Amino acid sequence: MERRQYLQIPGPTNIPDRILRSLSKPIINHRGSEFEDLVRGCIDGLKSVFRTKNDILIFPSSGSGALESAVVNMFSHGDTILAASHGLFSERVAIIAESYGVSVIRINKEWGKAIKDEDLREILRNDKYHKIKGVCLPQNETTSGITNDIESISTLLKELNHPALLIVDAVSSLACLPFETDKWGVDLVISASQKGFMLPPGLSFVCISEKAWARREEASLPKWYWDYNAAKEKMKNYQMPYTPPTSLLYGLKEALDIIEEEGLTKIWDRHNFIGTLTREALKSLGLELFAEEGYESDTVTAIKMPENIKYQDFAKVLKDKFNVVIGGGLGDLQGKIFRIGHLGSIHLMEIYSILGAVELTLYQLGYDLKLGTSSRRISELILRKG
Ligand SMILES: Cc1ncc(COP(=O)(O)O)c(C=O)c1O
Repeated sequence: MERRQYLQIPGPTNIPDRILRSLSKPIINHRGSEFEDLVRGCIDGLKSVFRTKNDILIFPSSGSGALESAVVNMFSHGDTILAASHGLFSERVAIIAESYGVSVIRINKEWGKAIKDEDLREILRNDKYHKIKGVCLPQNETTSGITNDIESISTLLKELNHPALLIVDAVSSLACLPFETDKWGVDLVISASQKGFMLPPGLSFVCISEKAWARREEASLPKWYWDYNAAKEKMKNYQMPYTPPTSLLYGLKEALDIIEEEGLTKIWDRHNFIGTLTREALKSLGLELFAEEGYESDTVTAIKMPENIKYQDFAKVLKDKFNVVIGGGLGDLQGKIFRIGHLGSIHLMEIYSILGAVELTLYQLGYDLKLGTSSRRISELILRKG
């Protein structure tokens, strides 16, 4: 019998049937009016999700491609940027920038700790001649299950009257966690299709402020595929400079319709509640969260591996017996943590299944727990919420 797979890695995420069906529509002419209508609908929907009036470009790429596009369109060889480094994905931006000859001042934080405005304050305050051209950080560091407070960083830049661009990687948070591009004044926001947007991998989105467009004119790093000017020119007619992934755009339009039907703020609330349930259920089993308290992500929970249980064994039983797929630790965290993604298409009842499988697997591997503890905790919290 075909069994439903619970794909609980922190992206790609489970794809709703409606979206899967939309992906199988016939391909249309990507230089015709039907295609233009499709992309216009996608851009309008994306603007609601980014909460912006700024321009949005769509690239056929993974999130990393869009990160690279940000670097080559915003900076020149020899520029300096300030970049968070507290996980694999924040560090990736720093590595991309350095590979193009951009100097990076890293804000190094232990993995699992958040980047706070106080970590940047002195560096920015001392930058009297505004050598720092950009401040780059992720809203959600997927490696460690941490959410950074982007609003406080943008407030800091305004308070210090620092002209650096604020560039935010919202790959594992957009359409899940509250994000206010215009209200917060974020200059460049990057996201991708395979997480909150509930789509297969393959599309990335970049939201560009007026200030960032002005910077694009000064930035001299080499680019062709990623050139925002070329993409903007074609986007005037809702086209792309190259053959677009039409099927994914059908999927995107369907995803944006689903998001609009539920309502963005309700989606934020759902992620917050499901994140809370996941954390509380895991804690009720005596497990320890990896993320700094107060900054735990509502899209991915990182948990320390209990002693005497190997991640490999744990993930194998979960997959083979229950068809629940979880993520492991990356880099230095390999074998030390496991990660449960709870983003995109995820609803209350699924949390019982996922946590039930986690509990049972731990029990079978010899972890000391009382069966039924996590589901009891989930039920209590649901009842309390009413
Ligand atoms: C926060 C964040 N940034 C960037 C990326 C890289 O995206 P991609 O794997 O689509 O290139 C990821 C991937 O998980 C991510 O979580």
